[in-house]
Amino acid sequence: MSNFLVAIDGPAGSGKSTIAKLLSERLGFNHLDTGAMYRAIGVYLDSKGFTPDNVPDEELEKIDMQYVNGELYLNGEKVREEVIRSAKAGQLASSFAVVPKVREKLTQLQRRICEGGNFVVEGRDIGTVVLPHAQVKIFLTASFDERVKRRAEELKSKGIELPLEEVARQIEERDKRDSSRDLAPLKPAQDAIVIDTTAKSVEQVLEEVIEIINRRK
Ligand code: C5P
Repeated sequence: MSNFLVAIDGPAGSGKSTIAKLLSERLGFNHLDTGAMYRAIGVYLDSKGFTPDNVPDEELEKIDMQYVNGELYLNGEKVREEVIRSAKAGQLASSFAVVPKVREKLTQLQRRICEGGNFVVEGRDIGTVVLPHAQVKIFLTASFDERVKRRAEELKSKGIELPLEEVARQIEERDKRDSSRDLAPLKPAQDAIVIDTTAKSVEQVLEEVIEIINRRK
């Protein structure tokens, strides 16, 4: 079985989820959203009453995640979109993501899942830490204002209307936490290709990425 891996990293609002999803469809690859895994584990640990400074080892040992037909399962239960896409789940993901043993656990699970085939994997540390041997590494960026605008539109499409200042505050806080943590901070891998998506359409970015992949195949 072939094992071609495309890592797509970048901050919130850089377009990585949209690109990763469309790219996996175009290539006929699996799509692993590692942010969904951080969200799922954050919601799970919080529901059990744990906080980032109190995550018992035994609790982490008991956690397993599987990827079956494009869906994630946590200890056999399907990870539901409506549970993990809330603003609270995003905050929980980012708070538990600073805990080294939580990252270690998810990194292990992500590597295991990707052993099984061709994957487009999106996240923050895929090219740097999780899959440093990925054949293609893309780091997407966009200006802060553009990322705020995209995030606000995404929320609006889900029926959540927030003032732009509030969306900007949330993104700024998350950027700061993701980029400044000691372990696996958000940054491009040395051999990643950085694409600024600010003034580009989804189709343009997609074509650019497909061209890069074709050159590496
Ligand atoms: O991508 P998404 O917004 O769903 O990710 C939620 C949070 O999970 C991020 O803000 C980040 O703190 C964390 N995360 C991470 N490493 C990844 C993916 C997500 O630390 N590979």
